[in-house]
Amino acid sequence: DKGEYKHYMLKEIYEQPKVVHAAMEGRLGKDSVLEQAFGTGAAEIFDQVRQVQIVACGTSYHAGLIARYWIEDLAGIPCMVEVASEFRYRKVVLPPGTLFVSISQSGETADTLAALREVRDRVLASLAICNVPGSSLVRESDLCLMTNAGPEIGVASTKAFTTQLVALLLTTLVLGRRHGLAPETEARIVDELKQLPALLERVLSLDPAIEKMSQAFAEKQHALFLGRGTLNPVAMEGALKLKEISYIHAEAYAAGELKHGPLALVDKDMPVVTVAPRNEMLDKLKANLQEVKARGGELFVFAGCSDEVLPEEGVQVLELPPVPGILEPIVYTLPLQLLSYHVAVLKGTDVDQPRNLAKSVTVE
Ligand code: F6R
Repeated sequence: DKGEYKHYMLKEIYEQPKVVHAAMEGRLGKDSVLEQAFGTGAAEIFDQVRQVQIVACGTSYHAGLIARYWIEDLAGIPCMVEVASEFRYRKVVLPPGTLFVSISQSGETADTLAALREVRDRVLASLAICNVPGSSLVRESDLCLMTNAGPEIGVASTKAFTTQLVALLLTTLVLGRRHGLAPETEARIVDELKQLPALLERVLSLDPAIEKMSQAFAEKQHALFLGRGTLNPVAMEGALKLKEISYIHAEAYAAGELKHGPLALVDKDMPVVTVAPRNEMLDKLKANLQEVKARGGELFVFAGCSDEVLPEEGVQVLELPPVPGILEPIVYTLPLQLLSYHVAVLKGTDVDQPRNLAKSVTVE
């Protein structure tokens, strides 16, 4: 039931404060992650993990890309991420101590499931990050961490993604504590995670401003999305959302790649969306934005601090509340979901059931 909402997608976007809470409920102690959440025998398995191989498709793959930054940064162990349709068909090197992590909303995605079946005898163990209890992926993996997002009806994945990120952050912490992550750091992140639902509520309150911004996209044929660090996969996810529900061609680039090619595309008809929290990469990002400005590109910036991001002609800046660094990719996803939602509504597409797409891709 959509209740007061016009579409399931909008309802599911607005459910995120509640479901990210569900994704951590019962899994956090006062200042640490509780390992029981991963199933019996999890602790012994985690003790032996030396690297992580993540496999997923689409939006779930983007969650994996963000987790790579976290795992290598906080646990200090190698993490590889690949789309399942490539992974399953190539000769993959899996060093001893590899934890195979699949990420899937449905738990039935054919390529992801096939990848698990392909390697399960060659890895230390498999962990499924999944939203559907009893799904094939959950049944066939050694460990699982349910994302608890509840049923997702809209074909475009929203709450499934942000809850996957919460689950992946919990996974990062249990791996990290075995590889020198300071207990104070874990305690700080656990504390920050507990603030996440309230932060997401605040971002949702910006919806009217985002809806207004969406008007600039309705007539456009193309859009570019830029981010750096964990915000790079967020930009990829923003571009995917825009293409799948509004049918506008969108591409994402790591902002530093701009001058290696895509800058040639920038003109007044190419809106450029940027996720720019106030972090150590902001100065670098600002230089990239100047490059866009200089070519007459129209900029839309979701920023941590609006006065730092050139509020001038041709630049629309929307300021988000201050966000702990680790939560930036989760929080900055919401404005991009809302932006593509409103663009699609303006264009009159079938938001919940975009053309040519299926919710669960059970054939390759
Ligand atoms: C995009 C989207 C798809 C899915 C992909 C994987 O909004 O929904 O890209 O993310 O088909 O599906 P799951 O997560 O069910 O394996």
